[in-house]
Amino acid sequence: MIPELSNPSVCMRDPQGVEDIIKAMHKAGPNTIQVISDFDMTLTRFAYNGKRCPTSHNILDNSKLISDDCKHQLKDLLDEYYPIEIDSNRTVEEKLPLMVEWWTKAHTLLVQQRIRKDLLQVVVKESDAMLRGNYQLFFDHLQEHHIPLLIFSAGIGDVLEEVLRQAEVFLPNIKVFSNYMDFDEAGVLKAFKGELIHTYNKREGALLNAGHFEEIKFRHNILLLGDSLGDLTMADGVHNLENILRIGFLNDKVEERKPSYLKAYDIVLVEDETMDVPNAILRYLTSTK
Ligand code: TMP
Ligand code: MG
Repeated sequence: MIPELSNPSVCMRDPQGVEDIIKAMHKAGPNTIQVISDFDMTLTRFAYNGKRCPTSHNILDNSKLISDDCKHQLKDLLDEYYPIEIDSNRTVEEKLPLMVEWWTKAHTLLVQQRIRKDLLQVVVKESDAMLRGNYQLFFDHLQEHHIPLLIFSAGIGDVLEEVLRQAEVFLPNIKVFSNYMDFDEAGVLKAFKGELIHTYNKREGALLNAGHFEEIKFRHNILLLGDSLGDLTMADGVHNLENILRIGFLNDKVEERKPSYLKAYDIVLVEDETMDVPNAILRYLTSTK
């Protein structure tokens, strides 16, 4: 049905179940489908030529807008909290308060740096941010078939929008839920807007944005893309969900985390820096044969 499902990066707990979901979604047709995707390390690469790629937070952290002292502090936070974020020996309940702590501390530091809105474009241009291989096909295909894409990110909305704009894929079928910056009249960062989104509260974020899901409530079939177990709750706001196909990128600590990813995601893509498998599935779902 889809040759790319035999790629070496693909692991599935239940290949027959995956085939059944894809067939049911294909039968229902493209007008019933919506895509919900995480941003950092899902639409963007985890690594390129052996070097780690930045998250939307890291794009700022590594930029000339941040003092050396603040860079050290942000790096210390990353070294302390990222291992907790991906630790398979801790429960989500244990991680929750620690993630709030990480995001709150990082955002407080960023606000102290008096970041200028007009320089975001420059720092994104100067960064090593990279979308996954063959990302153009992914975005073009969704646009061409009028399939809505919700990008649901615990990163920084202003930065990720700029990454998409510079890659020329910030298309009208895209909606973003993320942490947005609030600037003063002089265009200087003064706070972050609204409820904080971190890795493990996407369910609450989904429920807060009920209006979006209401608008596309006739799309009962979901393709979900994520790289964290927290991303699985991104579809919790969807009305009358019929079929959901969950694709998880397993980028880091592969052997340790594989069992839990196989349990939670229908398709696990191990160290796959491309959009080839999601693209192949979308091609099939929108084909008439
Ligand atoms: P995502 O939901 O778009 O994947 O974004 C969340 C990622 O951002 C998560 O993997 C942790 C990362 N992050 C940083 O890299 N630096 C930070 O300061 C914070 C708060 C999060
Ligand atoms: Mg992510």
